[in-house]
Amino acid sequence: MTRPLLSSAREHLHRLLDRAYVPFSKQPRSVLVVLDDGQWIPGVRIESASYSLSISALGNAVTTAYSLACSGAVAGVVASRPLAAGDRTYLHALAGFNGAELSVTEEDTLASYWRGAPPASLGPAVDPTVPCPTSVADGVQAAHRVAQHAHIPESHFPVGAVLVHDGDTALPGVNVEHPDWHRILCAERNALSTAYAYGYTNITTLYLSCPKAPGGSPCGACRQVLAERAPDATIYMDRHTDVPERSSPADLLPAFFNSGDLVAE
Ligand code: THU
Repeated sequence: MTRPLLSSAREHLHRLLDRAYVPFSKQPRSVLVVLDDGQWIPGVRIESASYSLSISALGNAVTTAYSLACSGAVAGVVASRPLAAGDRTYLHALAGFNGAELSVTEEDTLASYWRGAPPASLGPAVDPTVPCPTSVADGVQAAHRVAQHAHIPESHFPVGAVLVHDGDTALPGVNVEHPDWHRILCAERNALSTAYAYGYTNITTLYLSCPKAPGGSPCGACRQVLAERAPDATIYMDRHTDVPERSSPADLLPAFFNSGDLVAE
C-alpha cells in the first residue's frame, strides 16, 4: 500500500532526525503528520535536562497541527519507529482521531497509522509561518489571535504564542490539551518544538497571550524549557490594555537546571 508515499516519507523522516535535540538519550526520533491532501507536518524529539519535560516527536507534530489550524484534516501519522502504546493512546484521544480506529502498517522500522485512506503521495511540508510582527504591540496581538486555535477541552483556557527566529521568521504555538494531563503541551513549548522541527532554532523573540488572564506568564515547565532552548530570547507578555511586559528566560528562571549539569555540551 501507498509505496510512493512511504518511500518519500522515509526520506523526510531520515533528514528530520538531524533536527531532533537528543543529547541525553542520543536516540533521535521523527514523525510526519500527514494531511488529507498529502501535505505534512514534521515532528522531532526535543529533550530537556529535566527529562520529563521532553517533547516526543509525535507530540511535537500533532500539537503543531493544532497551531496551524489543520488538525481536522489529519489523515494519519508516519513515524521513524513504531509508536509505543502510550503514543497510540495519545493519538486516539485527540479530537482529530476521535472515533477512528487507526490502521497500522509497519515496514522495516517505519510505521504508519491511518484514520482512513492515505493520500496517494506526499506533497510539500505545511508552511508553518505567520507574518512576522512589526512591533511589540503587533506581536502580542498576533499571539492573542493565534490563541483561538488552542485545543482546550480540559481547561477552556486558551494560550497563544508567536515565536520569532532570527528576527524575521515567525511561527505560532497554542496549548493542546489531552485527557491525560501529563501529555498536555503549553503554547510556548508547542511553538518552540515546531520551530525545532522546521529547523528554526535561533529564537530571538517570543510573544505570549493569555486572552482570559491579563497577568498570565509562562508556567514553570515552559520557563525551564525556554531557559534551555531559547536562552537569548526576549519575551513579551500580553497585558491587555496595559503595555506588554518584557522579560527573558533568565529573568523568569534564574539558576535553572541546565544540560551542562548532566553532559558535556
Ligand atoms: N498553559 C500554557 O499554554 N502556557 C503556560 O505557560 C501556562 C499554562 C496552558 C496549559 C493548559 O492547557 C492550560 O494553560 C491551563 O494550565
